[in-house]
Formats: sequence, structure tokens, C-alpha cells
Amino acid sequence: MSKNLTKNMKKRIVKDVPSSPPNGNTQGRYMSWLRILKRYLSANIAVDLGTANTLIYIPDKGVALNEPSVVALEKESHKLIAVGGDAKRMLGRTPDEILAIRPLKDGVISDIMVTERMLDHFLKKTLHQGRFFRYKSRVIICVPAGITEVERRAVRQAANQAGAGDIYLVSEPIAAAIGAGLNVGGPRGNMIIDIGGGTTEIAVIALDGIVCDTSIRVAGDEMDEGIVQHIKKKYNLLIGESTAEQIKFEIGSAHELEKELTFRVKGRDLIKGIPNTEKISSEEIRDALKEPVDAIVEATKQSLELTPPELASDIVDNGLVMTGGGSQLRGLGKLITKQTGLKVNCVENPMECVVRGAGEILENPKKYQKLLTRGKQL
Ligand SMILES: Nc1ncnc2c1ncn2[C@@H]1O[C@H](COP(=O)(O)OP(=O)(O)OP(=O)(O)O)[C@@H](O)[C@H]1O
Ligand SMILES: [Mg+2]
Repeated sequence: MSKNLTKNMKKRIVKDVPSSPPNGNTQGRYMSWLRILKRYLSANIAVDLGTANTLIYIPDKGVALNEPSVVALEKESHKLIAVGGDAKRMLGRTPDEILAIRPLKDGVISDIMVTERMLDHFLKKTLHQGRFFRYKSRVIICVPAGITEVERRAVRQAANQAGAGDIYLVSEPIAAAIGAGLNVGGPRGNMIIDIGGGTTEIAVIALDGIVCDTSIRVAGDEMDEGIVQHIKKKYNLLIGESTAEQIKFEIGSAHELEKELTFRVKGRDLIKGIPNTEKISSEEIRDALKEPVDAIVEATKQSLELTPPELASDIVDNGLVMTGGGSQLRGLGKLITKQTGLKVNCVENPMECVVRGAGEILENPKKYQKLLTRGKQL
């Protein structure tokens, strides 16, 4: 593959070079030629390879891709049918010969081959065929703070196979904190809670490092599963994970709502075997979400107990910051404030914080030298 890319690259560069010596502003033209060359030689990018969504950041462009981490394959031939949003729409709806797969689970790669193909597809889509990964491209990939050595190797391998050059792994909570606009390099303590699809990461950060962290494999997916089980138990109605996620979006909450909500859920009646509709309420869905929500609150309290007193006092002053898609569950901030006494700050684009933070590291390598050095060794 890399041979083809190199061939492609040469063709493009030749096309972009003026064929005869330029007249007029020679230096200006020379500079623009250099800029083009540089672009081809170093496709620097940051990737948030998440359980639920994959995001790619390109310097000067920002978030260039935001797609569900889902792949649809033909069962026999393993031919790629769809990737990202198109594949997600197929979840739970595929005929026998097609498989719709989520290749990451609990924040880590569970199917390395499919992850490689998904990454390869996303990278080509983002950087357009033939423009990707030249000599010395720098790639930052965000990983959960609590992953094992084997899981780290799997991430590196997937990026390597997709053609990445210099690979740096950066902890998700640090990237999330930078993306949320926190000053991670100072001595003051910052607490971040990143609630994704597969993991919730809670970390206290100061002086460019994680002082203490708690990572639990409970997040948005567990909430969806809680809803599936509740509907099955109470109504004998079978629903898929996409319907459960939609219920969570529409009426899910962690704390009492000013005005409680209702939703008409459609599924397959397990006794009669035919489709059926039931009206459900936000109160009962809150109950269904209680277990994962309580686990997140408990992990937050645990992290606070581990926090050194000086940093704890900073957190009391500033509050904590929530990022990740799961942080958008209605009333979650309110519940955490109630249980911990801390102010909870929400950010504008919580699902983009991790990749934006990694992008910031990419764009300011000198400022974040320590993180890059550490990320190379990981
Ligand atoms: N408004 C919302 N209310 C509740 N949950 C939401 C909302 N929007 C998104 N989510 C949930 O957020 C999760 C996805 O968040 P995110 O993209 O941050 O996860 P991820 O980074 O892919 O996962 P991880 O970090 O665990 O690997 C999904 O479980 C999704 O259902
Ligand atoms: Mg994430």
C-alpha cells in the first residue's frame, strides 16, 4: 500500500511544481512550493479512537471527521459494506450474510483486524486518497488512562497497519482536559470526568501529569444495556441497542426532572412474538439507569478520596469538568453536585474535547513536549 501511496505522492508533487522557472516573485512561488511539499511530507493528525465514535483532527482544519466506530462486513468474504454512520444505521437490522460490528469495547480494541480496516477507511476519507502518511507523519492517538500494555500495543499496531509514521499515545483524560480549555501544566489541580460509550475516566491533573485517576468500564453503553433489560423485564418487549440509545437521548435522566417525560417504545413482544408498542416514562428509565449512574458517582467519590489535600482544595474552588457524550445525560451534573458538594462545569462540545485537546498538543509540540515524550514511550 505504502508503495502505491508514494507513487501517488510523486505524481501529485510533480503536477504541483511549475514546469519552467517562475517569472516575477520567485521567492513567493518557491515558498508556496515548499508549503505544498511540506503538506505532502507530514500529514500530522490526532485521533480519538472511541468505543462509540472516532474523531480525527487535522491542524489548521480542526475536527475533520466524527463518525460512529462501526463497521459492516460481508460474513463470508469479509468485504467491507459500510463504515461509520452508514454502518451504525445497520446495527440490529442486517440480513444473515452481513455483520455490523463495533470493533471497540469498553474503550479498547476488541477486534484488531476490523479496527485496522475502519481506521484505514477513516484516514483515507479524511486525508483523501494518496495524501496520507508521508515521511515522518506525526500521529497522536488518545487511549484510556487505565489500559494494559497489550491493549496499547493493539492501538499501535492498528495505526501502524493504517500507515501512520511517528505514533504517540496520549491519555484521554489529559487530552480531554486540554480540549476543555484547562491549564494542565500549572500546579493547580484540575478534575476531569470523561464519560464515553465504554469507559468513564476520572482524573486529577496537575503539572502535565495525572496525579490520581479512576477508570471504570461503565459508561453510555451500560446505560443502553440497562434500558434494554428494563424494557424486557417490565414489558416483555425486546428492543435493540439503537432504540435503547434513542430512549436515553429522549427521556433519559440521572436526576428528577422539572417536567417528567414519556416515550412510545416499539419492539418485539417476547410472549406473542409480534411487534408491540408501550408508553414508558422518564421516571422508570431513571431507575433503569441507576446502576451505571451510581457507579460513575461512586468512582468520582473514590477519586476525590485519593486526591492529595492541596489539589483537593483547588477542586473545591474550581469544581470539576465533565466531558464525553455520556456527560450529556440530563441531570447528571446536578446529581454529582448533590453527592459530592462540588460544582460541575459542562463544556460546549463535550464529545469533541478529547480530539481537540490532542489537536492542541499536535499544534504546540514545544508547549506539550513532556506529554509527547511520554506518549512516545508508552
Ligand atoms: N444527549 C446525550 N445523553 C446521554 N448520552 C449521550 C448523549 N449524547 C451522546 N451520548 C452517549 O455518549 C456516548 C458516546 O460518547 P463519546 O463519543 O464521548 O464516547 P467514546 O469516546 O466513543 O467512548 P470511550 O471514550 O468510552 O471509548 C454514547 O454512549 C452515547 O449514547
Ligand atoms: Mg472517549
